[in-house]
Amino acid sequence: MMLHIPAVLNAAQVEECRRVLDAAEWVDGRVTAGHQSAVAKDNMQVPADSPAARQAGDLVLSALSNSALFISAALPLKVFPPLFNRYRGGQAFGNHVDNAIRTVPGTPVRVRTDLSATLFLSPPGDYDGGELIVDDAYGGHTVKLPAGHMVLYPASSLHRVTPVTRGARVSSFFWIQSMVRSDQQRTLLFDLDGAIQRLGGALPHDEGIVQLTAVYHNLLRMWADT
Ligand code: NI
Repeated sequence: MMLHIPAVLNAAQVEECRRVLDAAEWVDGRVTAGHQSAVAKDNMQVPADSPAARQAGDLVLSALSNSALFISAALPLKVFPPLFNRYRGGQAFGNHVDNAIRTVPGTPVRVRTDLSATLFLSPPGDYDGGELIVDDAYGGHTVKLPAGHMVLYPASSLHRVTPVTRGARVSSFFWIQSMVRSDQQRTLLFDLDGAIQRLGGALPHDEGIVQLTAVYHNLLRMWADT
């Protein structure tokens, strides 16, 4: 499942992130790339252990914890501390797949990357190119979102970022280990949860909603690892 999550950050939060990041030290993005992706990758990143990455990352994590849509879709078990990248002057990231397992720097914590997330921090009018293209069985999906919006997609997908030919594209990217490893099962739970929310609005006293909610939780119990 690919999902657009609007307004994870509001305008003030985007501005705060950008203020911190624009003043930060940036290094070659190949530092976090695996062997194959290092060949394809050409961008800049804020070092993961820098105060700027921590500060902006905490802001993103706290916003995510308030996003009902993110929680319903990702069913997060572990979220990798958000990283930040920037493309400009023709920089791009060729086709690659993200590493399956990521160790959180400075800790023994390993995250299985079930989902990848890109949170856009530049308004689309600020740059040309810089589209994220995610391939699935139906072809390539092009993603370029307003600042503060996020896309969630299976980390198993081949994806790329097209060259930024004008301006700069700043974004946050990170991975999620879900309580539900299977994308198919997670998608079913997300659809079921969405239907329950809608029915709950229309028919708040219907016993059928209680029954569907029980089905949701019993499926989650069957499929989730904690
Ligand atoms: Ni990637």
